[in-house]
Amino acid sequence: MTDDIFATGDIFANRELVRVGHVPELDRVVGRDNEINEVGRALGPATQGGPPETTIIYGKTGTGKSLVARCVTREAHRRATENDRSLQYAYVDCSDYQTEAKASREMARELVKRLTTDRTIPRVGIGAADYRDITWELLDLHDVDAFVVILDEIDKLADDELLRSLSRARESGKADAFVGVICISNKIEYRERLNERVDSSLQDNELVFDPYDADQLSNILNNRRDAFKQGVLDDAVVTKTAALAAREHGDARKAVDTFYEAGQLAERAGADRVTVNFVDDAVRQAEINRFERLVSGQPPHVKLILRALAALTEQRDASRFRTADIYDVYVNFAESEGADPLSYDRVSRLLKEQSFLGITDTTHTGGGPSKGSYLEHRLMRDTDIILDAMRSD
Ligand SMILES: Nc1ncnc2c1ncn2[C@@H]1O[C@H](COP(=O)(O)OP(=O)(O)OP(=O)(O)O)[C@@H](O)[C@H]1O
Ligand SMILES: [Mg+2]
Repeated sequence: MTDDIFATGDIFANRELVRVGHVPELDRVVGRDNEINEVGRALGPATQGGPPETTIIYGKTGTGKSLVARCVTREAHRRATENDRSLQYAYVDCSDYQTEAKASREMARELVKRLTTDRTIPRVGIGAADYRDITWELLDLHDVDAFVVILDEIDKLADDELLRSLSRARESGKADAFVGVICISNKIEYRERLNERVDSSLQDNELVFDPYDADQLSNILNNRRDAFKQGVLDDAVVTKTAALAAREHGDARKAVDTFYEAGQLAERAGADRVTVNFVDDAVRQAEINRFERLVSGQPPHVKLILRALAALTEQRDASRFRTADIYDVYVNFAESEGADPLSYDRVSRLLKEQSFLGITDTTHTGGGPSKGSYLEHRLMRDTDIILDAMRSD
């Protein structure tokens, strides 16, 4: 029998459901009823030809901000259509379009995608204001009653002009349609800045999405069980994945990712069931991946320094080590690789940088200025994770 090189295994029934980037239908969004209702309330009037209210959404990463904004807007578009009204929308991820011109162009392009028009949006040669004029023109031409713009990751946008012109579009007579904006940011410190810049009435429509708890994460995962084949998933898998995710971050994206990764690992191992062991492996693998990304961006000497710290941690019955001890081991490692060791001061500075990156944790110890205090460094993760990350590098 020849192996099927395209074989996909017996684990997944519908892999798409647990892939990152998948935007599920509103009925697969769970544990966000209040938030959905709030956004729905803001868009409600627009489904009947009235003005949508502008809304600002804050919250940590993976708390469903983009998802809720997109799903509810899509639903509002459908409802408006049922009501014989035209509600159109544009989703702009400002981390991909960081200048006023790029974001304005993307808004126009998104609108064109939703209208039946053969109008094309020029790529270059015109400015931000021209892209917006094209947008207003299209809204008029197609008798759009309301236009909702989602400015996701708005803190990445270099300029406020787009937001300002959207808020004034109708009153300035540029557009006949009612224009509403949903601003999204995972930087809570952005709040102050945004509040200064936009109309104070916006502050009434401010929503904060909290991290998910274990129950909500369980619901989110259970809602996608059908990604897996019937009977393949051990009962404890969902509970365990949700509990770990709730404890660490409350991030649904990461939880769904772990869920998928556990399935992948089971598939690769040729297992016929996904057990909690695969969840442990998946979490560990994610940790290694994160460190790999962190560590692989570091210059070779930093890797030697980290390896020195890992070696000390393995050899001695301690987890914290003084800069001087790490330096001695580092010098040995460097020399055995035929590299010229960096100076003590340089290594000391590089070690401090590692703690900013979250790879190590640095503490001040010692007896006051006269005796000279010193720094101690500790690896934030198990040494085998660090060593794995460097091996695969
Ligand atoms: N309530 C939910 N129900 C179902 N799936 C969810 C829910 N919330 C989040 N998810 C899943 O997690 C993923 C991440 O959510 P989302 O993109 O909305 O996060 P976010 O708050 O915008 O994070 P970021 O600040 O990083 O952009 C979604 O694509 C979806 O798969
Ligand atoms: Mg988002």
